[in-house]
Amino acid sequence: MPWSSMQLYDLIRRKRDKGRLSAEEIEALVSAYAAGKVPDYQMAAMLMAIFIRGMSTEETAALTLATMNSGDVFDLSSIPGPKVDKHSTGGVGDKVSLILAPLVAACGVKVPMVSGRSLGHTGGTLDKLEAIPGFRTDLTYRQFKRLVASPGLAMMGQTKRMCPADKRLYALRDVTATVDSIPLIAASIMSKKLAEGIDDLVLDVKTGRGAFMSRTTQARKLARKMIAIGAQLGKRVVALVTDMSEPLGEAVGNAVEVVEAIEALKGRWRGDLEEVTLALGDEMLVMAGLATNPEQARRLLLRALSQGLGLEKFRLMVEAQGGDPRVVDDYGLLSQPACRVEVRAESAGFVRKIDALQVGLAGVRLGVGRQDLDSKIDHSAGFLFKKKVGDRVAKDDVVAEVLGSDETKVREVAGLLPEFISVGTGAPRRSGMVIARLAGPLTPRRR
Ligand code: URA
Repeated sequence: MPWSSMQLYDLIRRKRDKGRLSAEEIEALVSAYAAGKVPDYQMAAMLMAIFIRGMSTEETAALTLATMNSGDVFDLSSIPGPKVDKHSTGGVGDKVSLILAPLVAACGVKVPMVSGRSLGHTGGTLDKLEAIPGFRTDLTYRQFKRLVASPGLAMMGQTKRMCPADKRLYALRDVTATVDSIPLIAASIMSKKLAEGIDDLVLDVKTGRGAFMSRTTQARKLARKMIAIGAQLGKRVVALVTDMSEPLGEAVGNAVEVVEAIEALKGRWRGDLEEVTLALGDEMLVMAGLATNPEQARRLLLRALSQGLGLEKFRLMVEAQGGDPRVVDDYGLLSQPACRVEVRAESAGFVRKIDALQVGLAGVRLGVGRQDLDSKIDHSAGFLFKKKVGDRVAKDDVVAEVLGSDETKVREVAGLLPEFISVGTGAPRRSGMVIARLAGPLTPRRR
């Protein structure tokens, strides 16, 4: 449908006045916008109308489909076996994908994972993977498909031809204060995930200081919206809402998170990272029909872990994507920081808080993530937390280390870090990492 300026005006006015857009209208609008046939000023007005008035599930599903169909959609149907991905809404120290994908692949799930780069204070899986010498994330569709078939997992970046409408819409949202709209976020994420050619999806919707959605009510709303889109489009989606108030695990950075992930695959991990990763793994195995309940799924995951099968899948993936598989045994092959500064506790007590948002922002200063699109990443930069929330500390105990190649920045950030770590008397009350589990009406597949 070609659009005249007047038709667009009517559409914007309808949305502004709480009306509904049809699936055909949304599809025509998005494809015209992607083709450069709708001016930014009218699309910006439409986005603001959506931001204020919201979208029904039918409208959001139509927006998801239209965005997905604006570019290439992978077809993995010729690959036997369940194809299930996990998506995280982003956090600090979130290296879960690096552990989870090989572990569930070792249990028989095919994992096609199109991942992102660091965004604001949150880290990106692609930046972490590129800390491995030679690792290529710019796979073609054919390479990606071959690797999903065998060794059973692949991790790549979004190509220019995947969801091009999302790229344009996101850039416009970014400058029109319309990013934090639940239907727009949900459609943006789901369009990219569905373009991967998955059967099912597990979502890790983060909440807390270091999350995109810091309030749990908002995180739940976003999760419900994505589940509803999945149900409309015939995809099973389960979401775990998980805590992101302190950084996940002990490492925040790129090379340091790769090391922590490999250590986890060797069975050396603890607490929060283990809890979140295994909970997501349970869901993936049950969804894929490879386990009938979470308890059985957990047994399969732990067996794959203890037999080193997850680690082996990781090694195969690294090799298949051009990386040096020897990193699994020799962490010295990863970028090493030129400078390392310890941060010590100023008083005795219990660690009561580590502010994930501030740690993430300080990480951007160090070069863990990007200040803007042209910023250079320092793969060696980051933090190692020797103490986590709930741990007891004595005065002068090392609480964290700050690492990087730029000594001035490392010292500056190390000077700031004590402000982001609270130590007090009395152990803080701890609850589980999984705050809620939300699922749609569709039941797991029987295989
Ligand atoms: N991540 C996305 O992919 N899209 C959004 O709109 C927000 C976060």
